[in-house]
Amino acid sequence: MNSFLRQKALITGGLGFIGATLARRLVDLGACVTLVDSLIPEYGGNLFNIADIKDSVCVNISDVRDEHSMRYLVQGQDYLFNLAGQTSHMDSMQEPYTDLEINARAQLSILEVCRKYNPEIKIVFASTRQIYGQPDYLPVDERHLLHPTDVNGINKMAGEWYHILYNNVYGIRACALRLTNTYGPRMRVKDARQTFLGIWIRLVVEGQPFEVWGGEQLRDFTYVDDAVEAFLLAATRDEANGQVFNLGGCEVISLRELADLLGQANGGGSYQIRTFPPDRKRIDIGDYYADDRRIRSELGWVSRVNLQEGLARTLAYYREHLEHYR
Ligand SMILES: NC(=O)c1ccc[n+]([C@@H]2O[C@H](COP(=O)([O-])OP(=O)(O)OC[C@H]3O[C@@H](n4cnc5c(N)ncnc54)[C@H](O)[C@@H]3O)[C@@H](O)[C@H]2O)c1
Repeated sequence: MNSFLRQKALITGGLGFIGATLARRLVDLGACVTLVDSLIPEYGGNLFNIADIKDSVCVNISDVRDEHSMRYLVQGQDYLFNLAGQTSHMDSMQEPYTDLEINARAQLSILEVCRKYNPEIKIVFASTRQIYGQPDYLPVDERHLLHPTDVNGINKMAGEWYHILYNNVYGIRACALRLTNTYGPRMRVKDARQTFLGIWIRLVVEGQPFEVWGGEQLRDFTYVDDAVEAFLLAATRDEANGQVFNLGGCEVISLRELADLLGQANGGGSYQIRTFPPDRKRIDIGDYYADDRRIRSELGWVSRVNLQEGLARTLAYYREHLEHYR
């Protein structure tokens, strides 16, 4: 059965990378989709992300910090996919109050308008592995202590726990996905604000060398279509309510190996290994990869797209559309 047919779904951050990919999938499933996004230029929102579905979705250019807009927007919605966020770790150190406003305070006010005006809504929140900080052990499961290394991690942690609290105390069905590095078509490639992989991809497509900082760190990556399936599963399954789930990927890889794989997928590409700049090193989490058995066993999630395939699809997209992402 298709749980989304004629259902109303609101996506905050819907013009961003993951939000726009989720929107496309929901449109295919027959949902009535509304996207809310502030289009602040430093973030990942981009109208081109929805160029092919723009006539099938409603777009509302608003800021999730604006309680009046959110009060209007959540009413009558069946699902809220809550993805709006400030994603840059460095920006969160340089502008900590902005990160606090978006990633923590606005999350609380979104939940408050849901409590007052639409307590029947089901919410899936986009959380992050950043909240674990430097892992005490690997792979990192959901029981791992939360000790973030940057302001962004602390605010996302608060944002996540407001959702779980409102589920537990007020019965507003909510759950959170702790995403690891997510990549694919429509990711921000202008700079490294979303992920270092974005700038690598842009530079290899442009035929320029890119920089790998360190190189030995281990990471996992989720292809965006796999992440979107996790959002859909979490939205429709009651067992998810009040839960947090790690998302991982098909493989664990060092950054140097990833750089080599990207070059191979592109049919050429060069990089230089650099030492970490000190301001980045201070907030780096080192090796990370997720134990994502909980979402696999409880919700039946699978990661289908491996890195080789995912990088090939991503490069193909940017070879065709790079001018919209510079
Ligand atoms: N991409 C990843 O690797 C990754 C990893 C962990 C967590 N996440 C989380 O997933 C979510 C989506 O990330 P993404 O990768 O699609 O990034 P993105 O920057 O492409 O999307 C976030 C969207 O939120 C919008 N936004 C930011 N502040 C807003 C505000 N105040 N009001 C309205 N809209 C606002 C931006 O314009 C952007 O379109 C974020 O919450 C992020 O923290 C992403």
